[in-house]
Amino acid sequence: MLCLGLESTAHTLGIGIVSSNGKVLANEKISFTSESAGIIPREVARFLDANKTQVLDRALRRADVSLDDLGVLSFSRGPGIGNCLQIGLNTITELSEKTGLPVVGVNHMLAHLEIGRLLTPAKDPVMLYVSGANTQIIAFEGKRYRIFGETLDIGIGNMLDKFARHLGLGFPGGPKLQELYYQASSDDFVPMPYTVKGMDLAFSGILTRAKQLVDSRKYSEAQLAYSLQEVVYAMLVEVSERAMAHCDKKELLLGGGVACSRILQEKTRIMCEERNARMFVPPNEFLVDNAAMIAWQGVLQRKEARLGSHDIMPDWRTDDVAVTWR
Ligand code: FE2
Repeated sequence: MLCLGLESTAHTLGIGIVSSNGKVLANEKISFTSESAGIIPREVARFLDANKTQVLDRALRRADVSLDDLGVLSFSRGPGIGNCLQIGLNTITELSEKTGLPVVGVNHMLAHLEIGRLLTPAKDPVMLYVSGANTQIIAFEGKRYRIFGETLDIGIGNMLDKFARHLGLGFPGGPKLQELYYQASSDDFVPMPYTVKGMDLAFSGILTRAKQLVDSRKYSEAQLAYSLQEVVYAMLVEVSERAMAHCDKKELLLGGGVACSRILQEKTRIMCEERNARMFVPPNEFLVDNAAMIAWQGVLQRKEARLGSHDIMPDWRTDDVAVTWR
């Protein structure tokens, strides 16, 4: 049985095709980028809409299948940007009407987690999920995926993008900030606010401070990019480690686009080594927003698939999902 999944929570429109035994046959996508600004919902939604057909064609060709070979459809129901989610819902509804296939609406965050469990040996990990809009530390306890810590204001990726934009680096800013990081060393460190409150994190204060330091012209771009990333990744490591200790779990799984950061991977690897735990990172293609993970989540939840109208849930919480597949 094959599931076709559609991802459209933010700046990526993806179509993935995955078999019921977990083989990824296609994982095609297109992502909105911008030299000057970040994400303007209406513009991004228009971009996704204009590109959906070519991404679908590419996915079917890559998997070497036709619509007739599919058994079920899935789409990202939330959380995400309303305009973008709506494009996904419209597209999957059209496909369902055309093929007569049932649809399952899946939670984007849990799809990140489950693709990690599919593609790495992780069995029961604490997941550090770090992306543009989200920052959460999640673990499976009491039959649900519980949030043990999260950002109190903006997602870490948005914070890094805003800082990069302040430096005139364009969007997405993560890769360029990483380059700058490696041009500096610990001697260049400039203190910045370290904001961990209990198990939660905050990033807007440190962003304000970092922008002020840029405007002061006292420090180099590399110095500030280095210091900012040192501080925020240390915050993530602290909360992840405490969640692992609290839940008595011996695995850490990374997910989300910010998890592509070599700096973050190195820091979490050291933490895990020091507590005799294992760290797992799926390939970058499956860390960033992708549709293979939505298709795999569709496979896991295929019994819930149905015909008829569906809806989107822009603010859907990870711990609101009834976990039927574990
Ligand atoms: Fe995501």
